Amino acid sequence: MHVLVTGGAGYIGSHAVLLLLEAGHQVSVYDNLSNSSPESLRRVCAMAGASPELFIGDLLDSDRLKEVMLNVKPDAVIHFGGLKAVGESVEKPLAYYRNNVVGTVNLIEAMECADVRRLVFSSSATVYAESKKLPLMEDAPRDASNPYGRTKLHIEQMLEDLAVSSGEWSIGILRYFNPVGAHPSGNIGEDPQGIPNNLMPFISQVAVGRRNEVKIFGKDYPTYDGTGVRDYIHVVDLAQGHLDAIDFLTHHKGQFVWNLGTGSGTSVLDVIGAFSRACGRQLPYKIVERRAGDIAEYYGDPTAARLELGWKAERGIEEMACDMWKWQSQNPAGYGEFEIGDYTNEDLNAYIKGIKDTLSSTNVVS
Ligand SMILES: NC(=O)c1ccc[n+]([C@@H]2O[C@H](COP(=O)([O-])OP(=O)(O)OC[C@H]3O[C@@H](n4cnc5c(N)ncnc54)[C@H](O)[C@@H]3O)[C@@H](O)[C@H]2O)c1
Repeated sequence: MHVLVTGGAGYIGSHAVLLLLEAGHQVSVYDNLSNSSPESLRRVCAMAGASPELFIGDLLDSDRLKEVMLNVKPDAVIHFGGLKAVGESVEKPLAYYRNNVVGTVNLIEAMECADVRRLVFSSSATVYAESKKLPLMEDAPRDASNPYGRTKLHIEQMLEDLAVSSGEWSIGILRYFNPVGAHPSGNIGEDPQGIPNNLMPFISQVAVGRRNEVKIFGKDYPTYDGTGVRDYIHVVDLAQGHLDAIDFLTHHKGQFVWNLGTGSGTSVLDVIGAFSRACGRQLPYKIVERRAGDIAEYYGDPTAARLELGWKAERGIEEMACDMWKWQSQNPAGYGEFEIGDYTNEDLNAYIKGIKDTLSSTNVVS
């Protein structure tokens, strides 16, 4: 099968591209590299012994998107491309609505233009309304509490409307819980710019000495140890869910929603404990005030994904911490700085495929 992956150079996308190539699929990536580096795809190519074709392009450039879609004519699209920082979305809501919502409208129009009607979309557990009823099921009430979450909610609703409007579509909405970890090789992983928003990348930067201590926001929550509880999911398990969703959509028309999580929650203190064991030293932490907007606990019910996709999270918190530590300790500065500058699509493809060893100028620092 030929799969076009938007945002395929990013954290989750690069893991999915690797699994797709390993499973023998042909892969094209559409990414503007605004939050990623070609280095991730270069490493994916080296590991898979096969290459995706990289198309540099923006989801907001509808002409480029149509041109690529008509050229590639994929059997399916996996749509990771988008902005994802909750805090930034509060400061720049329009940038988030434009990039995520308008970008998805453009993508769907380009797909229609090329008669491609199989789509897997990266949604998030952030679309669920706060609830005391756990685990969260797919039909739980939705109500996002920030602009980022609302972009996901709007896109979900748009995809529902699309599936109602035409019986031709096969759409899978995947609601991720908290993706963490890295490929067990330590070659690819999450490379956040600036101060990480999420707990696990923050902890791993403390472990590698880039930050002093982990801040725990509140120890008086009604949870098993007083700290916040979340459903962490290993990025390789998560990536596998996309391959299983594509298989399912090959045989089913309509619109489907699946939670991708482990089905149980882990506290902040337990995550710090697992990471301390992984890196071999007790990581320093400090309890500080609760953070506005944080909720005590949530985790999802992944039964639908198990029954319908045959998917199940295989890796636990110790493995997530070990693999994350391997990635972080082997790559303390992530993939290094990258700016797209004047690089051509050809340059970048030659680089990721190993035909060129460097990207000539100072744009890539490894
Ligand atoms: N990582 C998480 O915690 C998490 C949780 C739930 C959902 N998600 C969703 O999963 C998807 C992938 O997340 P990730 O963690 O891999 O993020 P990421 O930032 O690492 O990857 C996103 C990719 O999309 C690209 N991109 C962004 N805007 C684009 C545009 N306009 N045109 C073309 N490419 C563009 C970026 O360059 C990047 O390569 C996102 O849609 C995100 O909202 C992520």
